[in-house]
Amino acid sequence: MCGIVAYIGNREACPIIIKGLKRLEYRGYDSAGIALVNGNLNVYKQKGKVSDLEEFLADKNTSGTVGMGHTRWATHGEPNNTNAHPHYSQSGNLAIIHNGIIENYESLKKELLKRGYVFKSDTDSEVFIHFIEDIQKNNQCTIEEAVRLALHEVIGAYAIVIISKDNPRKLVAARKGSPLVVGIGKDEFLLASDATPIIEYTRDVVYINDYEIVTIDDGKLTVKTIEDVLQSPYVHKLEMELESIEKGGFDHFMLKEIFEQPKSIRDTLRGRVKSEINRVMLGGVRDLEDTLVNADRIIIIACGTSWHAGLVAEYMFEEYARIPVEVEYASEFRYRNPVIKEGDVVIAISQSGETADTLAAIELAKSKGAIIFGVCNVVGSSIARATNAGAYTHAGPEIGVASTKAFTAQITVLLMMALIIAKRKGTVSDSKYRQLLIEIEKLPEKVEEALTEADKIKYIASLFKDAKNFLYLGRGYNFPVALEGALKLKEISYIHAEGYPAAEMKHGPIALIDEEMPVVFIATKDSTYDKIVSNIQEVRARRGRVIAIVTKGDDYIKEMAEFVIEVPSTPEVLVPIVAVVPLQILAYHIAVMRGCNVDQPRNLAKSVTVE
Ligand code: G6P
Repeated sequence: MCGIVAYIGNREACPIIIKGLKRLEYRGYDSAGIALVNGNLNVYKQKGKVSDLEEFLADKNTSGTVGMGHTRWATHGEPNNTNAHPHYSQSGNLAIIHNGIIENYESLKKELLKRGYVFKSDTDSEVFIHFIEDIQKNNQCTIEEAVRLALHEVIGAYAIVIISKDNPRKLVAARKGSPLVVGIGKDEFLLASDATPIIEYTRDVVYINDYEIVTIDDGKLTVKTIEDVLQSPYVHKLEMELESIEKGGFDHFMLKEIFEQPKSIRDTLRGRVKSEINRVMLGGVRDLEDTLVNADRIIIIACGTSWHAGLVAEYMFEEYARIPVEVEYASEFRYRNPVIKEGDVVIAISQSGETADTLAAIELAKSKGAIIFGVCNVVGSSIARATNAGAYTHAGPEIGVASTKAFTAQITVLLMMALIIAKRKGTVSDSKYRQLLIEIEKLPEKVEEALTEADKIKYIASLFKDAKNFLYLGRGYNFPVALEGALKLKEISYIHAEGYPAAEMKHGPIALIDEEMPVVFIATKDSTYDKIVSNIQEVRARRGRVIAIVTKGDDYIKEMAEFVIEVPSTPEVLVPIVAVVPLQILAYHIAVMRGCNVDQPRNLAKSVTVE
């Protein structure tokens, strides 16, 4: 978590850094700060959002062509002005911004305290910079050498940038486990946690690898490993468009991203599904096709919404590819002793490609000989690079903290994978395969149609916005959709919500139902339709308030539900993609009506780079 951005060049650094921090605010937003070199090394910090920092800076001296900023998601120490980054070193000559966690900070701190260092904050990051300065002092070396030596002692994850008063044209950065991108402009460099603060200034970027140290000194970029081996960094060309990271007239990124789904699904499918020639093509799958086809089982690892996409994939792979699938929370998987055989296939799903638990689970699976396939949205991300092969979702940058378009794109990619394998194995009939390809191509229009219910959903939201609890129920492919609907609501509106398989309701949650309880059923016409109709009756009999997501034209459920929201008819395997859309809209409007900050919900961050 936390976003970092730095600039070194000939322009005023402050406005570039502030703008960059706003783009990175999805990574954390409890406090923010900036350091600027202009003869002095000035640090300004403020609790709250980047806009609070911006206001605070209005009457300050913010000149300087070298600087760095940080937007924080607290790990060590509560969010306040002191714990906000940047942190000065003891002498005030150096300052650091840090994204990550230093696990052995207490033992380092103890040593530094003995040597007379004084700590102002409760953070591990302040320990880090004092430690670096201590090494520099003892060894009389350059900053980059001190950083290099320090990194041999430090345990944990970091992306750091350090600037100095005494070396005003120098900036040193390093990474392990937290992302860091360097933008190379004309006589200027930008560093950031992702490419969004950079794209306005240059399209040439270098993705820094773990255990690499970057030094920019007087306009020259050097990348070395922590073993002091010089690297020749590969310069990537960014393909992202600036407008894709702006709100484009919508009140919130989340709403924009919900409405973008017809386009993002089209982008996910582009060049990959061709019903006229009966073909699905995923470059990454081709690289691993035999392994996937021959897999005895597949383990899916992911967190949050991506885990829900994994659950949908379980149904898909088992139904069509006939491969047993286990779906695991990455955070649980990595701390058990999972049974993995040489050649087992692990699919890691991650929007950001930076989730620490997913990354660690991948490393564990790799160490046991598994073949890892990645499904990521962010190009060049750590997970994308840690896998043996993969497929990007191509949903475009997702900025709202609550994931929406990434979820539908993930399911789309996973379905393509399942169908490629199924076709090779002969576990899907030719006619079914062809029918599914035709239907997949219609998905963007179907999602477009689902979005036309938005006004009605807004009205329903106004009636239920003060509810204390919500229950979401679905069966089969729609069970993960129920989980995802509940997650969307709780993360952005702070209403307690639970998703459940509808049939399990009678084993517990039914006790919660009374006339106050809204129950959202995902009750589309599919193989479990009759069963879910019975579940609706059970809720009605206990005076629960039923909101049902139904297939267009379903007059039967209309009779028994208080409200119905229609989605177009599509094959069962595709239903999650259209049925989740109304749930995203419902959560969005309820949250807005309750005055919540939907793009930056409390306590959350989009990219969870800590355990
Ligand atoms: C955070 C985000 C969620 C996301 C989860 C997993 O909790 O707020 O929206 O689903 O991380 O992230 P990933 O980037 O790995 O999909």
